[in-house]
Amino acid sequence: MRTTITLPRPDDWHLHLRDDAMMRAVLPATARHFARAIVMPNLVPPVVTGAQATSYRARIMAALPDGMTFEPLMTLYLTEDTDPDDVAAAHAEGLIAAVKLYPAGATTNSASGVRDFDRIRPVLERMAEIGCPLCVHGEVTDPGVDIFDREAVFIDRVLDPIRRATPDLRVVMEHITTADGVDYVKSADTGLGATITTHHLVINRNHILAGGIRPHYYCLPVAKREKHRLALRAAATGGDARFFLGTDSAPHTDANKLSPCGCAGCFTAPNTLPILAHVFEQEDALDRLEGFASRHGAEFYRLPVNGDTITLTKGTPEPGPARIDTPDGVVTVFDPGFDLAWRVAD
Ligand code: DOR
Ligand code: ZN
Repeated sequence: MRTTITLPRPDDWHLHLRDDAMMRAVLPATARHFARAIVMPNLVPPVVTGAQATSYRARIMAALPDGMTFEPLMTLYLTEDTDPDDVAAAHAEGLIAAVKLYPAGATTNSASGVRDFDRIRPVLERMAEIGCPLCVHGEVTDPGVDIFDREAVFIDRVLDPIRRATPDLRVVMEHITTADGVDYVKSADTGLGATITTHHLVINRNHILAGGIRPHYYCLPVAKREKHRLALRAAATGGDARFFLGTDSAPHTDANKLSPCGCAGCFTAPNTLPILAHVFEQEDALDRLEGFASRHGAEFYRLPVNGDTITLTKGTPEPGPARIDTPDGVVTVFDPGFDLAWRVAD
């Protein structure tokens, strides 16, 4: 039985760092284990222009504790008014790694997102030309579509038409939650990848709703039926380079989670790697953790794999970290429902 794994230092290809005091509280959890992360732009107000991304990047670097290294890979929040020249300039100077598409109203702070997908055509064409990837929150917001079907309907109604109209656009389907998402990614030869979160490998919708409602498991896209979780596990652990880790670690205070209209998001940055080692071991795929966490995303984004390494060791199972205190209030860490035997060595 293996009790040690050494990997090139992993990256997180989908992360919410927030801003101000919350950012200062959560950033060390990511920087401790990950070299780089694709940083989501859904602040209030959102990070829409290159100038805003420059200043957000500077705030992240200023919040990084002394002695820690971390490279934020910035993104722009796509709106119907996004200027293709601004995107091209930010991409050319190496400031942004991607642009993020939120359908308006799909999730936290998405009010400025896109309603009319025809209006973003010029910017998508420009991105295809310059090789700037589009990260997609893949859910329709049509109130007539059941929330558990919103990813599958998005693929048919929005994503596939975009990809047909702009075949050279490189797209990451963020945080896929369904077998439909897995199949769609596999159906494309090039230019399409997907991130998978840690929590969607662990929970299905029963964990949220059966035997009492558990707000800390509520995120978007919401976890689906067990057959979908199994499809995600097969995709993540199967060695296919089109699938890579994006935690979607999304801190909210308990006050905002445990409310009559609670926020969506699971905070997984502190315990993601031990949970992933557990999942990959269960699937008899520990040797594939390196691809999922450290290699496939870098390949998709055309970046070098990190030169340094981290080591995970297996010991006595113990409960993981339960919470962090922030000046805004307590943030509960995702509870995988099992003790953690794997630990990241110092
Ligand atoms: O659960 C989620 N939380 N999903 C998202 O798409 C956004 C995120 C957040 O920002 O809290
Ligand atoms: Zn997210």
